[in-house]
Amino acid sequence: MVRMIGTRLTERFGLSHPIIGAPMAFASGGALAAAVSGAGGLGFIGGGYGDGDWLEAEFAKAGNQTVGVGFITWALAEQPDLLSHALARSPKAVFLSFGDPAPYVDEIKATNAALICQVQTLRDARHAIACGADVIVAQGAEAGGHGERRATLTLVPEVADYIAKHAPDVLLCAAGGIIDGRALAAALMLGADGVVVGSRLLASAEALAHDNAKAAIVAADGDATMRTGVVDIVRGKDWAARYTGRVLRNGFTDQWHGREDELRADKAEAARWAEALAAGNTDIANTFVGEGAGLIHTIQPAADIVAEILAQATQLLRGAKDFLK
Ligand SMILES: Cc1cc2nc3c(=O)[nH]c(=O)nc-3n(C[C@H](O)[C@H](O)[C@H](O)COP(=O)(O)O)c2cc1C
Repeated sequence: MVRMIGTRLTERFGLSHPIIGAPMAFASGGALAAAVSGAGGLGFIGGGYGDGDWLEAEFAKAGNQTVGVGFITWALAEQPDLLSHALARSPKAVFLSFGDPAPYVDEIKATNAALICQVQTLRDARHAIACGADVIVAQGAEAGGHGERRATLTLVPEVADYIAKHAPDVLLCAAGGIIDGRALAAALMLGADGVVVGSRLLASAEALAHDNAKAAIVAADGDATMRTGVVDIVRGKDWAARYTGRVLRNGFTDQWHGREDELRADKAEAARWAEALAAGNTDIANTFVGEGAGLIHTIQPAADIVAEILAQATQLLRGAKDFLK
């Protein structure tokens, strides 16, 4: 494969493109991870909250393809053995997000797996670097799934400046709103070595999401998402208040966002939401996706998505000199 955009990330991980497929809980299985890696990026299995049997099955689906694995850090504490099981599958990297990576660093560093830490603030970037992260992912609030409040456009260069000054060997990726080649090119200009793509790959053929959820993403514009905690309440997920999930707004969020205490007391709503999720009823069960939904117009094989992002970014970077008068 011809390398069209080479960065420190492609060098360090032996990739053809500086594109990482996000470890999306429940959605990034072995097939999606393998497709992203097969297309020249680095795909991740989304270990999420942790389910050993599921993880085993998804690693098997990835076959011989090199992939990484991600976990929601605070949830790992409830199942410490899971990390050892995942490391036994020789992942290229472990991607930790949402919580303190410190308790897991030694075990990861004792293997060949790289440590990737996704952060939402400069403070957490500093901490992850002090812990020994090989790659920092600076995640802006436009991202799908869980996150915080800072924007990609300012968080990425601020972390880039910090890394340049204090930890020049650490790599940096941008996450949040990376949908097409424009965002990849922009992220490189902001000082990133690569990008983490979530929402765009959720609307792929290989993603483990209901077809109705994928169709809802294609139908949505970027105004249609919101950050909320109500979906975690009905799913019984004990997230710290600083993190909220970005989802497609619907009748359920219209009814309950802002009435969280009442929702906690209403157990029937949890069952109604879970049934709707299984049935693909997106009017009740919210779809986790970022503001970039407004830029997603097709459901395609992941390899085609990666190729399109790369082709557009390459064209834009080649044309960048035209701005110079
Ligand atoms: C459906 C979905 C599930 C996600 N699950 C996780 C997860 O389990 N762990 C994690 O670190 N990040 C998760 N994320 C966030 C991604 O790692 C990434 O930051 C985000 O998708 C990037 O923004 P984008 O969606 O605009 O591409 C998830 C994102 C989505 C859309």
